[in-house]
This record gives sequence, C-alpha cells and structure tokens, in this order.
Amino acid sequence: MASKYKNEASSIYIDGTDVPKNKFNLTNSIQIHELERELIKEAYETFYDELDEDTVFDENYLKSLHKRTFGEIYEWAGVYRDFNMSKGESRFCQGSFVISSSKKIFEELKKDNYLKDYGNKSKEEFAKKLAYFKCEINALHPFCELNGRITRMFFDMIVAFNGYKFIDYSTVTSKHYISCAIECVQFADESGFEEIILNGLKKR
Ligand SMILES: Nc1ncnc2c1ncn2[C@@H]1O[C@H](COP(=O)(O)OP(=O)(O)OP(=O)(O)O)[C@@H](O)[C@H]1O
Ligand SMILES: [Mg+2]
Repeated sequence: MASKYKNEASSIYIDGTDVPKNKFNLTNSIQIHELERELIKEAYETFYDELDEDTVFDENYLKSLHKRTFGEIYEWAGVYRDFNMSKGESRFCQGSFVISSSKKIFEELKKDNYLKDYGNKSKEEFAKKLAYFKCEINALHPFCELNGRITRMFFDMIVAFNGYKFIDYSTVTSKHYISCAIECVQFADESGFEEIILNGLKKR
C-alpha cells in the first residue's frame, strides 16, 4: 500500500469529494459509482463460477474479493486499514487491532467450517449464524471503503455455496439497513440483520 494512504481515511478521497483517488483519474462521482457497480457485477459472476468444494471462506478470501474486484482502480484494494475509522456515532475496530480482531473472527468462522455445512440445516439457524458473522465483519470494517458491498458479496458467496440465491436486500430501506448496522457496531446486537437475512434467503 502506498504510504500516502496509510494514516487516515480521508486521504483516499480526492479533496472535497466522495470520489476515491483512482487509477483511471476519474473525478466524477456518478462515473466512479457506475464503474464500481460494473466491477461488482462482473466480480459476482467470476466468484460465483469459481465456487467449489475447495473454496474456503477465510480472511484471504475476503481480501481477495476486495482486491480482485477493485484492484484495477484502487491501489488500496484488498489491504486492511491501519488507521481508526468511524461513521456517525459508530467507531469501528481500532486500526491497530484490525489484524488481530480479523484473525479472531476468522478462527471462529473456521470452527464453524466457514458456514459450508448449512445447505441441509434450517434457514433460521443459517440466518442466525450469517447475521452474527456479518455483524462481526461490519464492526471490524477492515477496508478503507467498499466494506458494505464486499461484506455482502462475501456472505452471498457463502449462501450460494449452500444452495441459496444471493441474499435479497431489495425490500430493505437504506435507513433501516444502517440502523441495523448501528445496532451491530454500537450494541453488538445482530437481531436486525438476522431478520433482514431471514427474509432475504431463498433456496435456488
Ligand atoms: N453509522 C453507522 N454505524 C455503523 N455502521 C455503519 C454506519 N454507517 C454505515 N455503516 C456500515 O458501513 C457500511 C458502509 O461502509 P463502506 O462505505 O466502507 O462500504 P460501501 O460498500 O460503500 O457501503 P454500502 O454500499 O453498504 O453503503 C454499511 O454497509 C454499514 O454496514
Ligand atoms: Mg462507501
């Protein structure tokens, strides 16, 4: 990672904008978001096609989703942050603890065989687990940007592995989604996400 990106979140953006500095030198917010949307769409196809029995939903997998989706536009793609970050009143995992906290979360996920055995269990059980780990990764907020989208992609690949369609968030307002994220980060309460996931989980 280039050192200029190391110490704070704001240095990834073009001054005074919400546009991250990018390899294509795009400065237009609409254009960059459209490009991100296209890259995510392609990535969903790629990662879905690559799923097989040997796929392991570990830390490297999470990083590789970020890196391979956005590496052609962002230098910091796939790299964990080492600075502190907050949104609104929520403070995410401290920068100096991102690596160790991530290790802990993924050790726990490993104990659950990376949620690879939920194809024949109840949807309720699966949604509970997914919400728990989604909440953990939300609070970790390991990347400078694009955490929401990559975290959703990560769990979408896990549900696809287990024979489900990608989680349907289309009926969830962004206000409600954020309120669930706030409950996660500030109160370690994943029940809001559990309900969202349960409603959005459908067998393929
Ligand atoms: N006030 C908040 N408190 C806690 N978590 C929050 C808050 N606002 C946003 N989040 C979380 O941070 C994520 C946004 O992070 P980031 O901007 O890195 O990713 P993104 O891909 O641009 O997000 P998204 O597409 O979900 O808006 C949200 O999806 C949510 O999980
Ligand atoms: Mg964002």
